[in-house]
Amino acid sequence: MADTFSTHPGQDPTLQDLLAVRPALSMHAIDGLVFEDVPLNAIADALGTPTWVMGAQTLRTRYHRLDRAMRDAGLDVDIHFAVKANDHLAILKILHAQGAGADVVSGGELRRAIAAGIPAREIVFSGVGKTRAEMELALHHGIARINVESAEELDLLSAVAVACGRTAPVALRINPDVDAGTHAKITTGLAGNKFGIPYDRAVELYAHAASLPGLHAAGVAVHIGSQIERMQPYRAAYARVADLVRAIRARGLGVDVIDCGGGLGISYRHETEGAPEALAHAIRIELGGLGTRLEIEPGRWLAGPAGVLLSTVVLRKRGYDGMPPFIVLDAAMNDLARPSLYDAWHGIIPLSARDAVAPSEQVHVVGPVCESGDTFGHDRTLPRLHDGARVALLDTGAYGMVMSSTYNARAMAAQVLVDGSRWDVIRARQKVESLWAGDIIPDPLTHPAGAE
Ligand code: LLP
Repeated sequence: MADTFSTHPGQDPTLQDLLAVRPALSMHAIDGLVFEDVPLNAIADALGTPTWVMGAQTLRTRYHRLDRAMRDAGLDVDIHFAVKANDHLAILKILHAQGAGADVVSGGELRRAIAAGIPAREIVFSGVGKTRAEMELALHHGIARINVESAEELDLLSAVAVACGRTAPVALRINPDVDAGTHAKITTGLAGNKFGIPYDRAVELYAHAASLPGLHAAGVAVHIGSQIERMQPYRAAYARVADLVRAIRARGLGVDVIDCGGGLGISYRHETEGAPEALAHAIRIELGGLGTRLEIEPGRWLAGPAGVLLSTVVLRKRGYDGMPPFIVLDAAMNDLARPSLYDAWHGIIPLSARDAVAPSEQVHVVGPVCESGDTFGHDRTLPRLHDGARVALLDTGAYGMVMSSTYNARAMAAQVLVDGSRWDVIRARQKVESLWAGDIIPDPLTHPAGAE
C-alpha cells in the first residue's frame, strides 16, 4: 500500500524535510510561511480561516515540467487536466493558457471547462454513468471524444448520436486488470472495479463500436488508478493496450488515439514523487511506436502540490492521562475529506516562524465535526501549537476544495489564488445563510391547520 496512507509505520518527515521538497513554500523569520512570494499570514489576517490557497506559478511550473518531459522523450502528447481534481475556473484557465485541455466526468464539469474558456474540441468525457442528457450536451458542444466504459453505454451513445444527427468520436476505456498498487478506494484498473471494459471483450466491442451508426471508433483509453508511485503498473497496463491496438488493427480497424490516463503520484509524506520523465519513458517504450496520437489526463500531479489549506487552532484539548493532547483546528473533514476517507497523510506546518521552532510534542490533530473520522493526523510530532496558532495543511490543491461539503452546517471556505507576489480572492467564504437559502418549507408547516 502506498506510503500516503498513515498505516505506514516510521518517522514522519520534519518541517525542514517537508519544506526542502516544496520549492513554492519557504519559512521566513518575519513573514513566516511564504507561498510563492506571499506570506500566508497576510491572507489569513485578511480573510480568516479555513482558507484554500492555490499557487498559479506553481501550477504553471508543474505543467511545463510535464509537457517538457513528454517532448524530451520525443512524444507529442496532449495533456487533458482531470477537472475533478480542482474545478475552479481560474485554475482551469491557468492550465489552459499553458496548453492543457480538460478531462471531464459529468455534464457539470463539461460546463465548467467550457465556462473557463476551454473549447469542447479540447475536452474528453470519461466516466461510468453518463446520462443521455450529458451525452447530448457533449455532442451538442462538439466534444473531442467520449471515453466509453461499457457495451451498454456504447449502444446508448449510438442512439443518442443518431437522434442528434451527430457522429460521436469514441474511445473504449479498457480495464486491463492491473494492480496500480495504490489505496483500494482509488484503484480503478482491477477486474473487480466498476471501471472500463473487460480486456478480453475489447476487440469484439471495438468492432461493434465501429459498426454502430453515429459513432466513430477513434481509439483506446486506460486509467488504472490514482497516486501511483511506481512505473511498473503503468508499463504493464500500456503493454496490454499495445497488444490490444495490434489486435484491433489486425481486424482491419483503425486506432487513431491512445488515452494513457492520469494517476501520477505526488509526495505527501515519504513517497518519491512520480517523475513525469519516467512516465514519458513508459509511454514511449510501450506505446510510442504505434503511430497513434497520445494523450494523458493527470489531475493530482499538476494541482496537488499547488495548494495549501490554512487553518487556525481553536483550542488544545487535554487527552486522557498519558495520551497525546488533541489540537482542534477550525478546518474539518467537510473541508478536506482525504484523511477521513483514505487515511491520507497531509503535512502540517505552522504559519509563524516562532511557532515552527517551538519544542515539539506528540499530538492528534482533529477538526470540530462530530465524527471520530474527523482527524487530520494521529500521533503527529509537531511544534507545540497554542490556541490561535495558524497552520497550513499541505498538498491540498487536488481533491481538496472539490470534495468539500457543508456537513455540520459549515459554510464552504474561502479560496485565494497566489501568483508570485500578488494574491486575489477567487471565491468568497460562503455565507452561512446561503446554506438554507434553498430550503423550501411546505405551506402546512408555516401555517399549520387550526393555528391562529
Ligand atoms: N482520468 C480518470 C478516468 C480518472 O478517473 C482520474 C481520477 C484521473 C484521470 C485523474 O487521476 P489523477 O492524475 O488525479 O490521479 N479523490 C481521490 C482521488 C480520486 C481519483 C479519481 N479518478 C483522492 O483524493 O485521492
